[in-house]
Amino acid sequence: MQQELSLILPDDFHIHLRQGRDLANYAKSAALQFGRVLAMPNTEPPINSPEAVKKYKEEILAAAPNLEVLLTFKLNKNYTEQELLDMKKNGAVAAKYYPLGVTTNSQDGISKIEDIYPTIELLEKLDLVLCLHGEEPEAFCLDREREFLKHLEKLCKTFPNLRIVLEHVSSADAVEFVKKLPQNVAATVTVHHLILTLNDIVGDSLCPQNFCKPLPKFPKDKAAVREAVFSGNKKFFLGTDSAPHSLEKKECLCGAAGVYSAPVAIPILIEEFENENKLNLLSDFVAGYGADFYKIPRQTKKATYAKEEWQIPKTIDGAVPLRAGQTLKWKAK
Ligand code: NCD
Ligand code: ZN
Repeated sequence: MQQELSLILPDDFHIHLRQGRDLANYAKSAALQFGRVLAMPNTEPPINSPEAVKKYKEEILAAAPNLEVLLTFKLNKNYTEQELLDMKKNGAVAAKYYPLGVTTNSQDGISKIEDIYPTIELLEKLDLVLCLHGEEPEAFCLDREREFLKHLEKLCKTFPNLRIVLEHVSSADAVEFVKKLPQNVAATVTVHHLILTLNDIVGDSLCPQNFCKPLPKFPKDKAAVREAVFSGNKKFFLGTDSAPHSLEKKECLCGAAGVYSAPVAIPILIEEFENENKLNLLSDFVAGYGADFYKIPRQTKKATYAKEEWQIPKTIDGAVPLRAGQTLKWKAK
């Protein structure tokens, strides 16, 4: 039986590191698992200026100097070409679109995507990536991603050279849609959408730590996400959407959406790929296809994991991690 596993040092192309006092802990925890991260901009205040991009990068690096940090900025308004160039110069590789009110800190989101088409046109011109939180807020919660696909279709037609990532793909409809689109459209996949369905949130007892946007859905949706990943389709790569919230924010009258997965993501993935007999595809999923899509060099450093049982703590960094209290088979060395 295999006792040790070596992978290319993983990238996480969708992570929330927050701000203020929490940032240092989340950044340090991320650096234990990943060599490179794409940090999301839905902080308080949001990352939406060249100065904010620069400052956020410096803050993350102050806590985790060895982490390679790629930045996003929030598309909560239109930007000038000069602002976009300056954000690019300061480390931004992508713009993140949030529909109004659809998820954590999206009260400044956009109600009509066409309103920011002028900026999207500039993204295409400057070869910046557009990352989409692809949910239609008005739709029924389980239909929100499917209902968003019409916007994705229109974006592809209007901006044929724009690189687009449908973030945290969670439905069979969206998986099939992305597969059919040209190679400049890809999707990130989270660990939780590979392993959870709605049953794991409300099927038995209520599990707030698994509550996130977009919601994990039906078994057929999970199966479609898994099929895309375990077939080695290069349009689908890891973005954990690790999104820590304190226990008090998760378990209250209006509980926050987000799964804290960064500290456990890679060990869980190793187990899942091993169970599917697909360990040969894991390096490309966590450290290959994403870098290729973002047109950045693949990492050359390695990370080693040992087959060693360990119990996931009940809380990490003050947040309840994915699969808290459960036993994992693989551990980062
Ligand atoms: C994320 C967060 O908490 O910032 N929450 C989530 O449920 N995924 C935001 C997001 O990516 O939707
Ligand atoms: Zn996210």
